[in-house]
Amino acid sequence: MKNLNEWKETAVQAIKDCHNNAELNQLRVLYLGKKGPIQEIMKSMKELAKEERAELGALVNEVKQELSTLLEERRSVLEEQEIAARLKQERLDITLSGYQPQIGNLHPLMLVQQELEDVFVSLGYCVAEGPEVECDLYNFERANIPKDHPARDMQDTFFINVEELLRTHTTAVQMRQLEQYHKEGKEIIKVICPGKVYRRDDDDATHSHQFMQCEGLVVGHDIRLSDLKGTLLFLAKKMFGEERVIRFRPSYFQFTEPSVEVDVSCHICGGKGCSVCKGTGWIEILGAGMVHPNVLRMAGFDPKQCSGFAFGVGIERIAMLKYGIDDIRAFYTNDLRFLKTFKRFE
Ligand code: DAH
Repeated sequence: MKNLNEWKETAVQAIKDCHNNAELNQLRVLYLGKKGPIQEIMKSMKELAKEERAELGALVNEVKQELSTLLEERRSVLEEQEIAARLKQERLDITLSGYQPQIGNLHPLMLVQQELEDVFVSLGYCVAEGPEVECDLYNFERANIPKDHPARDMQDTFFINVEELLRTHTTAVQMRQLEQYHKEGKEIIKVICPGKVYRRDDDDATHSHQFMQCEGLVVGHDIRLSDLKGTLLFLAKKMFGEERVIRFRPSYFQFTEPSVEVDVSCHICGGKGCSVCKGTGWIEILGAGMVHPNVLRMAGFDPKQCSGFAFGVGIERIAMLKYGIDDIRAFYTNDLRFLKTFKRFE
């Protein structure tokens, strides 16, 4: 019995001194386990007299109970301490600044395209798209450029096969729109068609085998050249400033008659003459004209009943003028130092 008490004191002290749960488990095995002293005492009890056995048995049970409770209490204290320590260690400082996500910006050509779309949507136009791999029919024939016509030489391109090619101008979408509107029985058309076009061209500071255009088309009753002029003046003012004026120069396109080349007064010098306008005060921005009767006819319209105007703008050209870019290749070489500077125009 003396033994038991001494032994209990040691165990109690060990439990109190224990500072982590893993060690506590070892103590549990050591004192209460199968090979522990309690079991030893139980075994030796056989040799005792009956009363002594009962007395010792009760005492052993008491000690066993006491140690179990103590172990349990210690375990929960240690567990709480461990959680508190972990919380302290893993504390999140939500005031620390995080990693800045890299947010891109729109490409300058997309900025110009969206600006053109905004101008024309505000005038009630729809925006239409067409395929970049186009049929000879829509790219040339419907545009009044028959097979073997010399006008095709100016727009040589990449052919997929004899009938399919990479479109050379968004005028092909104009031809598709004409056909579709006619099929749907609509008599009034107001669309713009932005997109990529391709030509067999040597790449230099002002030429690229791939570039972007935005086509415009209006068809209805009694549409006149003066409507075209008013529309393009509105466009020039929106894109280059309210003080801009435009002028028409006679030109030639197979799909328009009459055809014009449109200049806008220089937005850099205001028309006095500078290096951008090459001293003339004027900058050429697009080609346009009244839709050729043949074009209307081929799409199913009667040129005696309706008329229309069309124009085609080069998006790179507008972007180069607006942002003062002197090399068209800058748009396609993906230099982030160049592209990032357009964030401020979004
Ligand atoms: N398709 C012409 C080109 O690529 C541009 C153009 C001129 C489009 C006159 C038109 C137009 O719709 O009426 O050079």
